[in-house]
Amino acid sequence: MKLYTVIPVVGVTLVQAFPGAAPQPATEVRAAADPRFTQWRAPGPNDVRSPCPGLNSLANHGFLNRNGKGNTIPQLIAGGKAGLNMGADFMGGIGLAGLAASPFPLLGSFDLNDLDKHNFPIEHDGSLSREDAFFGNDYSFNQTDFNMLLSHFQGGKTSIKTASEGKYARVQDSRRRNPTMVYGAREFVLSYGETALYLQTMSDPFSGVANVNYIKSLFEKEKLPYELGWRPSTQEITLLTLGNMVFELFGAGPEPAPEGLKVTADTYKNAFEVVNGVLPILGNLTTL
Ligand SMILES: *[C@@H]1O[C@H](CO)[C@@H](O)[C@H](O)[C@H]1NC(C)=O
Ligand SMILES: *[C@@H]1O[C@H](CO)[C@@H](O)[C@H](O)[C@H]1NC(C)=O
Repeated sequence: MKLYTVIPVVGVTLVQAFPGAAPQPATEVRAAADPRFTQWRAPGPNDVRSPCPGLNSLANHGFLNRNGKGNTIPQLIAGGKAGLNMGADFMGGIGLAGLAASPFPLLGSFDLNDLDKHNFPIEHDGSLSREDAFFGNDYSFNQTDFNMLLSHFQGGKTSIKTASEGKYARVQDSRRRNPTMVYGAREFVLSYGETALYLQTMSDPFSGVANVNYIKSLFEKEKLPYELGWRPSTQEITLLTLGNMVFELFGAGPEPAPEGLKVTADTYKNAFEVVNGVLPILGNLTTL
């Protein structure tokens, strides 16, 4: 246990100290040539989307089904890898959450709007860019809420500290205005995970420094900022890199942990525990 939490931290430090020494997988070469990066299209009237700007962007570029419907776990894993260099562990976990939320899980697929359900599995109060379900619409992008996050960034760049402060500001805003706010350990962990997700997908799995313009494109247009110069991270984004950053974000910001929750580098992975029991299945799916 202890060893597990220490090793990733050492790994992060080495990569940060010697960025040139980090492995450079062939992903970038393949990804740069993928025509879907320049094939963004807004969803049509019969297309469905989720509360997650990352999944929606993947669908808007055709890395997932453009209509947002019938997503299978192998499709999510392949689309997340090609569009954002996401690992199969994370995309598989999202896929299982989607199936759990689907009215027809035995079909083996779900629609992106199945993920809209309040407090299950990914929608929650105090979100970075959506209003709480209490106010009526918890799935559409809300510029006022998102500007509250953006106001924390300086010089056009994010940082671990400012991202953490901006995230907490949104939680406090919701707490002030929403008398029914639900924000326990699960919401606490998942919302840090969302911050780690936008920071890592828009830059790399370690630095927390991303161009604010890229973040705006992701949230405001649900468009991968390829034409602004962004490229997918050359290093894969996994539950391990996300968990490490959740731990760092928590350490750098002012938010207290919910009572009884001890935040470690494992905390985020544990929230995805359901995946572990079916990892052999996922392993088989990725080879389909
Ligand atoms: C966005 O959120 C603000 C509160 O931050 C609210 O006043 C406003 O009505 C919301 N806008 C939309 C379009 O829902
Ligand atoms: C995965 O594939 C292996 C080898 O093909 C097989 O033995 C195993 O039962 C499969 N696992 C699951 C969970 O389907």
